Amino acid sequence: MRLSVIGAGYVGLTTAACFAQIGHDVFCSESDLDKLRKLQNGVMPIYEPHLQGIVTHARESGRLTFGETDQTVESGETIFICVGTPPLENGDADLSAIEGVARVIAKRARGYRLIVEKSTVPVQTGAQLRKHLAVHTTGKLDFDVASNPEFLKEGTSVEDFLHPDRIVIGADSPRAANLLQEIYQPIIDQTFACPIHSACPPRPQPRFLVTDTSSAEIIKHASNSFLAMKISYINMVADLCEATGADIGKVAEGIGLDPRIGPDFLRPGIGFGGFCFPKDLQAFVRIAEKFGCDFALLQEVARINQKRVSSFVEKIRKELWVLRGKKICVWGLAFKPNTDDVRFAPSLAVVRQLLAEGASVRAYDPQAMEKAQREVPELTCCRDLYEAARGADAIVLLTEWEEFRRVDWKRLAGLVERSLIVDGRNTLPREDVTGHGFQYVGIGGVSGAPELTRSLASI
Ligand SMILES: NC(=O)c1ccc[n+]([C@@H]2O[C@H](COP(=O)([O-])OP(=O)(O)OC[C@H]3O[C@@H](n4cnc5c(N)ncnc54)[C@H](O)[C@@H]3O)[C@@H](O)[C@H]2O)c1
Repeated sequence: MRLSVIGAGYVGLTTAACFAQIGHDVFCSESDLDKLRKLQNGVMPIYEPHLQGIVTHARESGRLTFGETDQTVESGETIFICVGTPPLENGDADLSAIEGVARVIAKRARGYRLIVEKSTVPVQTGAQLRKHLAVHTTGKLDFDVASNPEFLKEGTSVEDFLHPDRIVIGADSPRAANLLQEIYQPIIDQTFACPIHSACPPRPQPRFLVTDTSSAEIIKHASNSFLAMKISYINMVADLCEATGADIGKVAEGIGLDPRIGPDFLRPGIGFGGFCFPKDLQAFVRIAEKFGCDFALLQEVARINQKRVSSFVEKIRKELWVLRGKKICVWGLAFKPNTDDVRFAPSLAVVRQLLAEGASVRAYDPQAMEKAQREVPELTCCRDLYEAARGADAIVLLTEWEEFRRVDWKRLAGLVERSLIVDGRNTLPREDVTGHGFQYVGIGGVSGAPELTRSLASI
């Protein structure tokens, strides 16, 4: 089928490439001309595992083309809107990019079009879109609007898109629902050539859930808010563990063994970030308020999350006594591993606070340094994790990349000024770290000291 995708960001590019991979002809548009030129010249504007190979293959086979939005609208019968919905100052979702796209569609599209919101939007955006399209159309446009929220995770976006646990469709007409089912059929049946696995691991068939548009919109906001709530919850439990001498690792394990709770999202740390959880949580609270529902529960989730950064910096200060003039090595800048995305990353908030307090920061991240440097120009980025650690008074881990777990601790011990690791993700092998003479400070009372410094560490 001929499909259009508008917006070639983390969601749009993955969507376009994966739809091409499963056999559709896709036209993907991007308004950022620099990004568009890169894509047209075969250069990836973002890092996402497996994506480059799929995009290249799809372009070479003629199934994926990049261009400007006007052309996209004229091209595919089904148009997936994947533009950004960033937060406004008051927490509302900024829907101006969606509105802009709707205007172009209304002006240029003719005949039948299925317009699909894949961007995350507040409930009743679909209804607004319908109204807006009807008002602005200048020609003979017959259309449906559907919601198809995206649940992919950066870092595993291709895998999540091709092997989802559910595909949610909010459609108010059978025609729209049927079209979307046809588009997704190879994924529902798992009958495409998988670009990731030579033999895909067995897993249950994804659920294809059809709802009305408003319900689908709420499913997305409610899912992200729930996961954010789980993170803030375990962070509060971690604080209690720290205050009482309990072990958050064991506590989280014990909680997660209950199948009604499950083990995911129970790792304490410096809080959630990225382009989804913080803004979706706020937007969900705001839209609920507009409809008279007080979501103070979620406001508290956001408040707990905001405090994680300062309480983590406090932890570093407690060890170093004075931050001014200290050399701090930072491992990890991306908001999570396996991505180059630093939007709303708590790691950058920690870095900014350390710099503001007079520490110098030398950082290393496998993929996110270019984007982080643009956000924080005072940051010194280093070519590898050892270079970043040279002369450091403390090594601070902020993103749990696998690379940081496989460190040559002996070599590292010879590079640092002081053997101190503050692990903001409770991810490093504690025994290994302390076994090589490092003092280890984690979240939620998870700490360990080598024999010689054990008595000092308790001061
Ligand atoms: N990033 C994620 O993990 C994720 C997951 C699920 C849902 N979402 C949602 O998907 C949406 C997109 O997120 P993203 O992370 O891909 O954002 P992004 O900023 O990476 O991508 C959006 C792209 O749309 C482009 N764009 C804006 N207006 C345009 C127009 N008129 N024509 C063509 N292109 C246009 C932008 O230049 C940008 O490249 C958001 O609503 C987000 O909440 C994101």
